[in-house]
Amino acid sequence: MQLQSVAKLQPNQSVVYIADAHTQWELLDFNPEQLAFIKHQVAAEAFPIVINDYHRLRIISYFNKQADVHIAHENCRIAAADAVQLINKYKLDQVAITNESSIPNAAWYFTEGAVLANYQFLKYRNDANKIANSLKTILLPQDSATPQEVTELQHLLDAACMARDLINEPPVYQTAQHLANEFKAMGKKAGFKTTVFDKKKIESLKMGGLLAVNRGSQDPPTFTIMEWKPKNAINKNPIILVGKGVVFDTGGLSLKPTLNSMDFMKCDMAGAVAVGCAMYATAINKLPVYVIGLVPATDNRPGENAYVPGDVVTMYDGTTVEVLNTDAEGRMILADALSYAKQYNPELVIDIATLTGAASFAVGTQGMLLMSNASRKDTKAIKKSGLEVYERLVEMPLWHEYLEQMKSDIADLKNVGGSEAGAITAAKFLEHFTAYPWMHIDMAPVAWNMSGKNYRVKNGSGKGVRLFYQFLKTRCAQG
Ligand code: BES
Ligand code: ZN
Ligand code: ZN
Repeated sequence: MQLQSVAKLQPNQSVVYIADAHTQWELLDFNPEQLAFIKHQVAAEAFPIVINDYHRLRIISYFNKQADVHIAHENCRIAAADAVQLINKYKLDQVAITNESSIPNAAWYFTEGAVLANYQFLKYRNDANKIANSLKTILLPQDSATPQEVTELQHLLDAACMARDLINEPPVYQTAQHLANEFKAMGKKAGFKTTVFDKKKIESLKMGGLLAVNRGSQDPPTFTIMEWKPKNAINKNPIILVGKGVVFDTGGLSLKPTLNSMDFMKCDMAGAVAVGCAMYATAINKLPVYVIGLVPATDNRPGENAYVPGDVVTMYDGTTVEVLNTDAEGRMILADALSYAKQYNPELVIDIATLTGAASFAVGTQGMLLMSNASRKDTKAIKKSGLEVYERLVEMPLWHEYLEQMKSDIADLKNVGGSEAGAITAAKFLEHFTAYPWMHIDMAPVAWNMSGKNYRVKNGSGKGVRLFYQFLKTRCAQG
């Protein structure tokens, strides 16, 4: 979708008005019948209100006052999805969005919802022309969003939609190598540096976890390093984002156990693309913050040389791990990346991963899990960003007792910890490989939408991108 900043609205322009009790209707060029109709609909709470002037469509999205500002903003995003549906039904190719409400920046949130709701993945559809949404351009008058905001938002939403594309691509196309190439292309466009380690290099570095998971695969693993280091960065030591890049998770020899549980496992690199696409948005919008992205990537398959339950793997940092379930592969590859991060002396490391089904059992599809041993200030800050972009985080503890479940008889650790508290024991496993302030986000509950709802369309969700961007942007604003 194209976002376009305009000085002011043209008279024949189709438009969405964001309205509330403070809207000055008399300034909006409605005739008396239309005003009476609007009043009636507002009283009946029948939204959105549609005024069809024949030469243009006008949609009024009306918001009742909300005590919670985050819910108010989320209501804007959700309402945008309804408006977009109407615009496409009327086959309009452009619409303006103007904020006539008392909610500051409402056009920003509404546009987010509109762009994300209008998203489609049509690359493999022969009937793409027929089923493509008509809406292509959103115009934003300068009194609703500044030209700078429009550019920033365009880049951010491009990044979120790119993340969805990368998740929705089929595994036959989205190999570890291909994913690394995508990151390279994004780096080239946005201006961050990308280095990709191939299998030989990964072997020479002895990244045992990544190599073990890759043993059952026909395709080589990759390890991608993305670096955005602007001269005006607020931080000397980097913030490092680490993403799980399992391009497909069959479970390996401990094959996925239940009906349909493998169907959507192409989303197992959603953490990796959240990192890559957040790097893209950060660099292209030139946020003054030094960030590094690390992505270990492979598929997890039961090929003839696959790692097996009972194997002991020596990890990148020398830790030995007894493998008791080859489906707990995410922690194997992330552990190596977290150990690798130490050499940068980072001020903060955040990993994001579709790590456990247990996370979904804990919170359903409404949130991601957060586990943190970083400062309370940073932990609070990421939770706040989560509320602001409505990619919410629920914090779980990292109590030391949980580590007991990860102890092995014959090695330093084992890779599974029993049936209880699976998301936490997975995090305790990862924590072993850290030596810096660290936060872990288990995004398994939200990476994939089984069905679509409002702007959260079906399939790859693209979550994590807006979360990281908001976190970094806020950090920059605070200096
Ligand atoms: N990729 C899965 C977790 C997952 C589940 C992601 C549902 C998205 C939606 C992960 O690799 C996995 O298989 N985890 C196991 C761990 C277990 C064997 C300890 C799980 O959660 O069952
Ligand atoms: Zn798995
Ligand atoms: Zn997995």
